Amino acid sequence: MANQCKSFVRSFATSAHRANVFNHVTVIGGGLMGSGIAQVAASTGHNVSLVDQNNTILGKSLTGIHKSLERVAKKKFENPTAGEEFVKNTMARISPATSPITCMANTDLVIEAIVEDLETKKKLFRELEAVAQPHTIFTSNTSSIPINDIAIASKRKDKFGGLHFFNPVPMMKLLEVIRIPATSDATYDKLLAFGKDMEKVTVSCKDTPGFIVNRLLVPYMAEAVRMVERGDASTEDVDTAMKLGAGYPMGPFELSDYVGLDTMKFILDGWSKNYPDNPLFKPSHLLDKMVAQGKLGRKSGEGFYNYNKK
Ligand code: NAI
Repeated sequence: MANQCKSFVRSFATSAHRANVFNHVTVIGGGLMGSGIAQVAASTGHNVSLVDQNNTILGKSLTGIHKSLERVAKKKFENPTAGEEFVKNTMARISPATSPITCMANTDLVIEAIVEDLETKKKLFRELEAVAQPHTIFTSNTSSIPINDIAIASKRKDKFGGLHFFNPVPMMKLLEVIRIPATSDATYDKLLAFGKDMEKVTVSCKDTPGFIVNRLLVPYMAEAVRMVERGDASTEDVDTAMKLGAGYPMGPFELSDYVGLDTMKFILDGWSKNYPDNPLFKPSHLLDKMVAQGKLGRKSGEGFYNYNKK
């Protein structure tokens, strides 16, 4: 599959959407986020290489993207033939590859969406640095690792930034665009323009823990857990209070179950290790216990609420 990358780039290089700031985008990691990013990039006229570790994973990514595009097409087009064309043309812009190396010959933008592990991300960018074109911009979609810590692995810090998408990428309008101190204005402007090309609403943020959304949301959800731990109020009453009193569409426990308690714990653990003096980032015993019991929220069938009930 790696070889398909080169031939794809050759055959589609001239047919890209003219108005887009980037022509060819390489998305590394074909999981939940990478698949969504690749789908939206392709449906907005970018030529995309989607990289993952093996063909089995890539096969699943492409099947998932195809199904998602069919859902989008049903909403977007009244005429079924136009919908089929849209799905076909978008899929044709995505080229799967098992190595990012060959894709670097033509890539304007790299979006890394692999496992949330600093050393693995640094190793990847070190490898890319050796082969990427001088103009290529590197970005990470990390949720909780400082972009600057990842950028250390690269020599092009002026061409390094963060693009933080939200799950599910095709549905969520927001894109947080992150700059590190070394990000040049030219790079940053291109990343903002890319966000618009992707039909997202962009917000700008410095390289701070959790950027904007998670920085506010994770401590809020953690404090709700601490309230219940202290016996101040019940899970149900906290959720009702925030929905009816603050106008939130979901209560903090419903939201925690949706995000995944393991994800929440992972983020809190990382922050509390890096910023031990910040009380907002303190781990929660209740959260730790629930994750150890496999109660991860909606995805495991049980979290603060039980989703297995009929
Ligand atoms: P995921 O586990 O669904 O997908 C990660 C993919 O990366 C897997 O398919 C895996 O095979 C692949 N991978 C791992 N190492 C690789 C390597 N060296 N080369 C190529 N592929 C490799 O994870 P998910 O949820 O898509 O998260 C990816 C990134 O996006 C993480 O940094 C995460 O923090 C971030 N993120 C996740 C969000 C979410 O709601 N899940 C939201 C926003 C950001």
